[in-house]
Amino acid sequence: MTWHIIGAGSMGCLWTAQFLKANMKPVLLLREQRLRSLESDAPSLSIDELDGTTHHYPIQLASPETVTTPIDRLLVCTKAQDAEAAVHSIEDKLSDHCQILLMQNGMGSQQAIAHHFRSQSVWAASTTEGAWIKDFLHVCHAGHGSTWIGPIGRTPDEQAWKNLKHSLESLPFDIHFTDQIEQKLWDKLAVNCAINGLAALYDCKNGELLATQERKERLAALTREVTHVRKAVGIKTTGDLFELVQQVCRDTAMNNSSTCMDARQNRRTELAYINGFLIEQAKKLGIETPENHFLMKELAELGIQ
Ligand SMILES: NC(=O)c1ccc[n+]([C@@H]2O[C@H](COP(=O)([O-])OP(=O)(O)OC[C@H]3O[C@@H](n4cnc5c(N)ncnc54)[C@H](OP(=O)(O)O)[C@@H]3O)[C@@H](O)[C@H]2O)c1
Repeated sequence: MTWHIIGAGSMGCLWTAQFLKANMKPVLLLREQRLRSLESDAPSLSIDELDGTTHHYPIQLASPETVTTPIDRLLVCTKAQDAEAAVHSIEDKLSDHCQILLMQNGMGSQQAIAHHFRSQSVWAASTTEGAWIKDFLHVCHAGHGSTWIGPIGRTPDEQAWKNLKHSLESLPFDIHFTDQIEQKLWDKLAVNCAINGLAALYDCKNGELLATQERKERLAALTREVTHVRKAVGIKTTGDLFELVQQVCRDTAMNNSSTCMDARQNRRTELAYINGFLIEQAKKLGIETPENHFLMKELAELGIQ
């Protein structure tokens, strides 16, 4: 029941720690160069828990080059823009019945991977667990949440569902399985489309997006466009999305979105898989999304991509 996890960042280390707690002997995959540069022969993974304790676990590390056994379960924990390359880097080691579980935010990368890996079962996750990486192989669990998992692309057979559920059931996480994962991904996309790029543009905390009339109007206009596109795609909307967006701004008032943090640190953001994905979908459907276009243009002018 070995899971291989690719991407040793916040999510990768958080999930690896859960497999370790469940005695499941995960293998954390690094890039070959990173693996070679390690000095320790006995690496360990540290996790700062929500109750203030820190735990250390011996960890098995490998790279796509050093993995010998066929991989039956792969958890992909890179950012959206790195996911396809990461899975391709290990492609020749995946068994034909491999379960590929994708943890990426936004949309587009999951569909591209599902399209390519047709003999394997591809699953997408949407999670509200929160974590940040303190140091290499040292993660801080920042907030408990829930995780929804469901198939993306080809519908897996009953045995694949059973195997996946069985391989995750001992994790100390709140995990739900759904055959409506696209709905979950679209729900998160709607909130992220409105909040993330705008917070990066104004370089502000989420709560500060409600601070002026101009910002609120922009939030509302972005949300209207998402509502329009998701309806045309056939995604159900229950309740008022703009109310939800404002509620998220209030609930996470003191937080900086991941996009805002990436922009501050001059890192590539996931916006191409958030607003970029929305714009692409809208274009295919012949729907205008001027607010999203304008936001992406303003961000690009600031060098935020
Ligand atoms: N952190 C959270 O609280 C949270 C919550 C919900 C959802 N998410 C989503 O989860 C995903 C992962 O986020 P994260 O916060 O864990 O990102 P992260 O901390 O940046 O970690 C991503 C890791 O993937 C590694 N990576 C990239 N390409 C790779 C490759 N080809 N081979 C091996 N490793 C590779 C990166 O290494 P390098 O740095 O060396 O490139 C980095 O260590 C994102 O889509 C994010 O939006 C995160």
